[in-house]
This record gives sequence, C-alpha cells and structure tokens, in this order.
Amino acid sequence: MKGHIYKSNEVSSTGYVKWTDEENDIWATLVKRQSEIIKGRACDEFMEGLRILNFSAKEIPQIPDINKALNEYTGWGVEPVPALIQPKEFFTLLANKKFPAATFIRIREELDYLQEPDIFHEVYGHTPLLTNQDYADFMEEFGKIALKADPKDRRKLFRLFWFTIEFGLLKTKDGVKAYGGGILSSIGETQYCLTKTPEVLEFNTLEVLRTPYRIDIMQPLYFIINDFSDLFKILDQDVLAILDEAKKLGDYEPKFPPKDIIIDDNSMGSMKC
Ligand code: CO
Repeated sequence: MKGHIYKSNEVSSTGYVKWTDEENDIWATLVKRQSEIIKGRACDEFMEGLRILNFSAKEIPQIPDINKALNEYTGWGVEPVPALIQPKEFFTLLANKKFPAATFIRIREELDYLQEPDIFHEVYGHTPLLTNQDYADFMEEFGKIALKADPKDRRKLFRLFWFTIEFGLLKTKDGVKAYGGGILSSIGETQYCLTKTPEVLEFNTLEVLRTPYRIDIMQPLYFIINDFSDLFKILDQDVLAILDEAKKLGDYEPKFPPKDIIIDDNSMGSMKC
C-alpha cells in the first residue's frame, strides 16, 4: 500500500514556514505523547538537548530559532530541503555541518509511522543531540567520508549512520538508553527497543557494515556503544578500508523477512532518515 505523498512546505527567504493549525496540532500531539514515552528511555544527552532547544509544545519550531541555539553549542544548523534529496547533496550538507530537514509533517492518519522522515523526526529526533559535540562531529565526519567513498558503496556505508544516528543504543550507569533519532521519534520503537525482543550487539564497525537493515519495520537488531566518544573512535579508523573488508566478507543473512517490493538502488531518498 502506498502511503500519502508528502511535499515540503515553502520556506521564506528568512527560513520561516507558515504552518497550518492542523500541522501545528499534529506537532503538539506528537510532542505530548513522545515526551512521556522517552522518560527513562532516552539518554541524558538527548534530554539535555531537548532542554536546551526548548521546543514549543504547541507549534512546529522554526528552523532559524533552532539554528540560533545549535550554532551556539556546536556550530551546526538545520537546512530546509525538499522531501527527497540526492545522496551527494545529503552528505555534502552533513560535511558542512548542515542537517537536512524536509519541511512537512506527517498527516494524522500516519501519526505512528511513516516511511519518509518528516520535520518531527528530524527536529525532535535528531536536533537535540546536535547540541552534543561528539554526535555532531560524527555527523560531519561521516558526511566527509561518504563523499570520498565510491557512490555505489554509499548504501552499504550508510549502515554506519543507520545503526548509530538512527537506531543507536547507549550503555549508561542507569542501564541501556536510546540515542538514535529513528527510535526517539517513534512511539512504538522507543518502547520496543528496550524490551527483550530485539537482539543487541556491541558496536563493531566491520559487523555493522555487513548487517543489512530494513527501513519499514521495527529493527530486529541494534548496536550499542559505551559512550558518545565511541562515535569518534568509529570514524577515526580507516572506514573505507573496513568497508572493502566488509564487501569481501559479504553481508550477514538478514534477520527480517524478504520485502515484496524491490528497492530501486538509484532512488536513495529513503536514505535521508
Ligand atoms: Co533520521
């Protein structure tokens, strides 16, 4: 079944979007229920980022306002983009400390899940940790490495981003917490990821690069880091050499059922998570 087709809202020359009352109401609903569910499940750094950014509970935050705060902490900023962008553009933005966010929000019928990353996912799920230097540095360095990689290897390389920035777990003194934006912007996955159902493995770059994933299901497998400084260590290795090694060794058997739709390798819109 094909979901709703989303299109980004127009952005003014100063970076503002005129959101409708319905769009703001959807934000309000999402923020209300998500801020309850992340308590005790999101890592402290994420909670601290939320505190710093202090999002409105009623209206979709405006990008220039978010940028003012981010710029102060890590020099990062959010860049409004159309619903889908090309991988090269995506990585170029990251390499320049710009986090791409499409200016649309999910419709009420897709409150719990949508395949496309909307402004709730990008802003609520990712920008809090863009106040954290280790996380921000990882994003920037990842963009630079991806630009150096052979374009046909980028999908595999993206697994490093997927299993950290999107679906990463973190060990803390208070137990396992989530830091991935794909998790923390999803009411279902925020709860599910800390249950006994999914498998959790220690983060290992080679293993991650050999692990396929699917974007449209709860993850059967997560990788856990010990500390945000681990993110720096990941990219401090010769990642492209490890990628070659991963290609030689081949992918692991997927831990999920085959998808009935063939994903077109040229359309990497779904990469922009
Ligand atoms: Co994302």
